[in-house]
Amino acid sequence: MYQPKSGFFKKYKEAVGLNPNVGTWSWLLHRVTGAILVLYLFMHLFALSSSIAGESTFNAWLSNLQTPLTHILEIGLVAVVAFHLLNGLRITIADFFLLTRPHRVLFWIAMLIFVAFLIITLIVFLPRAFSPH
Ligand code: HEM
Repeated sequence: MYQPKSGFFKKYKEAVGLNPNVGTWSWLLHRVTGAILVLYLFMHLFALSSSIAGESTFNAWLSNLQTPLTHILEIGLVAVVAFHLLNGLRITIADFFLLTRPHRVLFWIAMLIFVAFLIITLIVFLPRAFSPH
């Protein structure tokens, strides 16, 4: 019987090595982006919870976050959300309409929309990242 390798990273390395194709890479990226979103959700709630201490504490938190680095990280967050959202919709459509055969085409359509989304994000966010507030 097939037994996957033990060890966190070994399992993933083996899965990719056995099936180095679009489906495997999109599955891995979906998992990684999902995990990043879960981590972000906790950080987001933590930052918002500073409002319990009052308006000035909350405003101080927010103004501390207005740096070029956090704005660049924001662009990364948009990319993570966009990939997870679009690939998630692709998976949902393929599951509901039994579109397993054209799943590669669906993936590349999703990636085309992702790239368009990213270009618009860079045009809007990049100038703001380096401008003083
Ligand atoms: C923006 C809209 C979202 C859509 C359309 C979406 C869609 C999906 C779908 C369809 C799956 C199942 C994937 C599969 O069956 O292989 C999934 C998994 C997952 N999603 Fe989302 N999701 C969204 C937002 C989020 C958010 C906001 C979070 C985190 C706070 C999140 C975290 C996860 C995680 C951790 C998994 C499990 C991944 C895995 O086990 O490989 N998702 N998502």
